[in-house]
Amino acid sequence: MKNIRIAPSMLAADFSKFGEEVVSVTEAGADYLHLDVMDGVFVKNITFGPKFIKDARRFTSLPFDAHLMIVEPWKYIEKFAESGSDIITVHYEACKERLKDTLKAIKELNVKCGAVINPDTEADVIKNVVEYCDIVVVMSVFPGFGGQKFIESVVPKIGVVKEMIKATGKNIELEIDGGITKENVAAVKAAGANVIVAGSTVFKAPDRRKIIKELREI
Ligand code: DX5
Ligand code: ZN
Repeated sequence: MKNIRIAPSMLAADFSKFGEEVVSVTEAGADYLHLDVMDGVFVKNITFGPKFIKDARRFTSLPFDAHLMIVEPWKYIEKFAESGSDIITVHYEACKERLKDTLKAIKELNVKCGAVINPDTEADVIKNVVEYCDIVVVMSVFPGFGGQKFIESVVPKIGVVKEMIKATGKNIELEIDGGITKENVAAVKAAGANVIVAGSTVFKAPDRRKIIKELREI
């Protein structure tokens, strides 16, 4: 059985008690913490930067999965690496022809790296960089906000990315991000995803331990 990892998106947490929220999902059995960094330019929302992540670091030893939804991410990767991020992912749409160099620069900082593609971006654009990734992220909502509806039509693309990963012969993770619920999690796993981001589904659940277990096992 493949190793399914549940990554609660902290975007859905109460930021006024972020440390407690980090502890809560850590104790509830999360595998990664997904940290959505937004700059108000690449997406129409603003969240937090490296200091916020660094301050959260002392509340958990879980891997931090920093999802950078920012323009010119290469300018900030060093700061995010210093903040204690274990994985840094950058958008194809923000990097374009600089994607490969940006991924390599992240690796040089001893941090795992990943490429993210939006729902309307073809998998083909990352074909030549998959081998440099530790993780590939397929967005199943348009980035910017939590709590959006899952876009069903991205499911076949998960399969396409899975094939690209297989072709490298490397152990590369495949993450799905956006709108994941108990109703659609089985389909994304079947298509090949092994890292499941879930924001509202985890934070709105009355029992976070139960929902994390369900998302992992369904
Ligand atoms: C969207 C973010 C997602 C989002 C997931 O811009 O990248 O990580 O917060 O939240 P839900 O699970 O609520 O869609
Ligand atoms: Zn995200």
